[in-house]
Amino acid sequence: MKRAEETVLTLGMESSCDDTAVAVLRGGRIVEAELLSSQLDDHIPFGGVIPEFAARRHLEAFLPLTEEALRRAGVSDPRRQIGLVAVTAGPGLMGSLLVGVMAAKALSLAWNVPLLGVNHLEGHIFANVVSSPELVPPFLCMIVSGGHTEIVLVKKFGTYVFLGGTRDDAAGEAYDKVAKALGLPYPGGPVVDRLAASGNPDAFDFPAPLKGSPEIVFSFSGLKTSVITRIKKIRSEGAAIPIEDVCASFQKAVTDALMTKLRLASRQTGVRSVSISGGVAANTALRESLLNEKGWNVFLPPRNRCTDNAVMIAAAGFAAFRRGERSGLDLVPDPSWELWKK
Ligand code: KG4
Ligand code: ZN
Repeated sequence: MKRAEETVLTLGMESSCDDTAVAVLRGGRIVEAELLSSQLDDHIPFGGVIPEFAARRHLEAFLPLTEEALRRAGVSDPRRQIGLVAVTAGPGLMGSLLVGVMAAKALSLAWNVPLLGVNHLEGHIFANVVSSPELVPPFLCMIVSGGHTEIVLVKKFGTYVFLGGTRDDAAGEAYDKVAKALGLPYPGGPVVDRLAASGNPDAFDFPAPLKGSPEIVFSFSGLKTSVITRIKKIRSEGAAIPIEDVCASFQKAVTDALMTKLRLASRQTGVRSVSISGGVAANTALRESLLNEKGWNVFLPPRNRCTDNAVMIAAAGFAAFRRGERSGLDLVPDPSWELWKK
């Protein structure tokens, strides 16, 4: 890499869902500043993300966060110091994406620096690249979040092959819905994960969905319904719900399903470098299972970079910039932008 490129400062901006995040990255890996404003408390009373509400919060949060990130990164003259503005342009909620893309366009125009629209899923893949310099293509990345459950083959950076995904609910969505049925707060994943630690994973026999199928495909809707039906049955019998055991048994079924398909993807492609990303990649059982897998080179992003953040967007943007990609001021967000159709 050329010396000048190594020192490029990228401003990364992320607002595809309910987190507003801004980061300043030097080259491909050095994090100069990283800020996140979570809207979780605003959405908790609704048990999920309200799109219009999320967009308004992004609008309030972006400029103060950007100013603070630049200050922390020691950027006093962005026109001269910032080399690239990278922003999530999809997939995600249209209103939320629009706020980020419009803000990024305005900054790119005002500072006269290049603009790059980044695919959110490519960002998740780069959450691993930032923390693991030794991770090089080809490798597999399983993206598991509240909106996604996909296994991607990274042939080279910029060339992604979709190997399989979910037919219905995403893994994180199943966590959130099971948690809701148990009366636990949103988002359910971290709470279920914590409670599962003191439960018996064999207490309930929740089957790992599509475990026996020869295809790389997931389905979490049936598992979620079977867990919720069981909870309702116990309630109707007037008994106390063994919450920890339900959490542990559900988590075992999800982990089993994810690992089974990841093994299948590794066998089918012959690729043994395996990474995960997305909110569910913070899950204790999933991380343990991966680390225990024999014959794989496993890469796990730090827990704070599993969930949405702007470092991953800046890193993916910087890599694309080095490949020669650019966006124009006519950049339009695409709420259903598929990475492999880029
Ligand atoms: O990547 P993310 O922040 O947002 C999306 O793009 O969806 O992922 C959020 C999802 C939520 O469904 C949340 O319940 C789940 O990730 N999650 C977890 C854990 N931490 C977050 N699921 C299982 N175990 C966790 N430790
Ligand atoms: Zn995400």
